[in-house]
Amino acid sequence: MKVAIYPGSFDPITNGHLDIIRRALSIFDRLVVAVADNSNKKHLFSVKERMDMIRKATESLPVDVDSFDGLLVDYLKKKDVHTIVRSLRANSDFESEFQMAVVNRELDKDIESVFLMTDKEYFYLSSSAVKEVARHGGDVSHWVHDSVREKLREIFR
Ligand code: PNS
Repeated sequence: MKVAIYPGSFDPITNGHLDIIRRALSIFDRLVVAVADNSNKKHLFSVKERMDMIRKATESLPVDVDSFDGLLVDYLKKKDVHTIVRSLRANSDFESEFQMAVVNRELDKDIESVFLMTDKEYFYLSSSAVKEVARHGGDVSHWVHDSVREKLREIFR
């Protein structure tokens, strides 16, 4: 059984993330979507809220939703998984993703990072943009799952 971990902040999960999850599932049998409990970043949603939204959005898919703190490589070791899935959008993602992959490889040489490109429809999409539009009352229904849209509506009401 081929399993990979897709880590991230997912604050909140967008249709771009869901596109990557579907693409990853065409390669892997199962995917663990792991929310980083990264206290040095300011998040709109709690880890629990982010996990709940991912669960709702991935209901029908072979996905496990989990969270982790500390180093990603330690989490992979604990789960006995050796592959990280990350997404690439525009050029600007490349440098930081490359750096992260190299650092993770330095920390654990048995870990491989796999990069999947989002559909061109989501090249510009980010959780930050979704939050910004929702904060000002804009329509985000094309960019997020219904449960996320509802949650954003509640928070910015
Ligand atoms: O969605 P994001 O914010 O781009 O995800 C980044 C994330 C959470 C995957 C990354 O920051 C991470 O792995 N954090 C855990 C700490 C760690 O292992 N850092 C070493 C790699 S630079």
